[in-house]
Amino acid sequence: MSEKLRLGVNIDHVATVRNARGGIAPDPVRAALLAIDAGADGITAHLREDRRHIIDSDITRLMDAISRPLNFEMAATREMMEIALRHRPHACCLVPEKREERTTEGGLDVIGGRDRLAPMVAELAAAGIRVSLFIEADPRQLDAARAIGAPVVELHTGSYCDAPEGTERDRELGRIVRAAAHAEAIGLECHAGHGLSYDTVGPVAAIPTIRELNIGHFLIGEAIFVGLPDAIAGMRQRMDLARQGVEGA
Ligand code: PXP
Repeated sequence: MSEKLRLGVNIDHVATVRNARGGIAPDPVRAALLAIDAGADGITAHLREDRRHIIDSDITRLMDAISRPLNFEMAATREMMEIALRHRPHACCLVPEKREERTTEGGLDVIGGRDRLAPMVAELAAAGIRVSLFIEADPRQLDAARAIGAPVVELHTGSYCDAPEGTERDRELGRIVRAAAHAEAIGLECHAGHGLSYDTVGPVAAIPTIRELNIGHFLIGEAIFVGLPDAIAGMRQRMDLARQGVEGA
């Protein structure tokens, strides 16, 4: 029996809605507390350089308020390093970031960015922060992540989720399955996320060496219709069934 799969709930898009009016509601910290009550194993938040959703004070408030680990997603920049080192969240996930993108497109190029990323990984790890690198399901990127001392990788599931159901999606899933096996073989803890929904979560959750999924946009969208606790319960149920090997979960 594989280990329980953790669910990190990303609350960025509660802040997106708040920021649309520039006020204080809806509050992403309230969403985080509700998500924890509903079974989230951790909270994920991405402080983007342009602060388009989560803002600095949200990170301070999340660190004070939540009883579960915070996974702080950040670009690999000096500004973000200083913020992470000041707050010392449980985990930092380094992501590529381009100002013009709507969401995180593609994974980090750990091979090309090795000299810049290695000292950052070391500095965060020395501060007691669990570092993960958000990468494509490419064994060469996993090897590079291992070589620079990252203990965790998060596999980008965007191409899998965006692919039309059938051969193309199966091919993308195959890449994730092989990358997760490779991660285990070289001693990396493996997470996955981006774009996951009720339709796409099952096959990823069924991969036994994946330990954590980080899911945001779909859950916040679904919460509009059924409320956040039910949206999270629905995801948790699908993850658990898939983990138990129930087909079609
Ligand atoms: N994991 C990482 C590294 C991300 O950057 C994001 C998006 O912020 C997610 C997971 C969650 O993606 P989504 O909001 O599409 O579920």
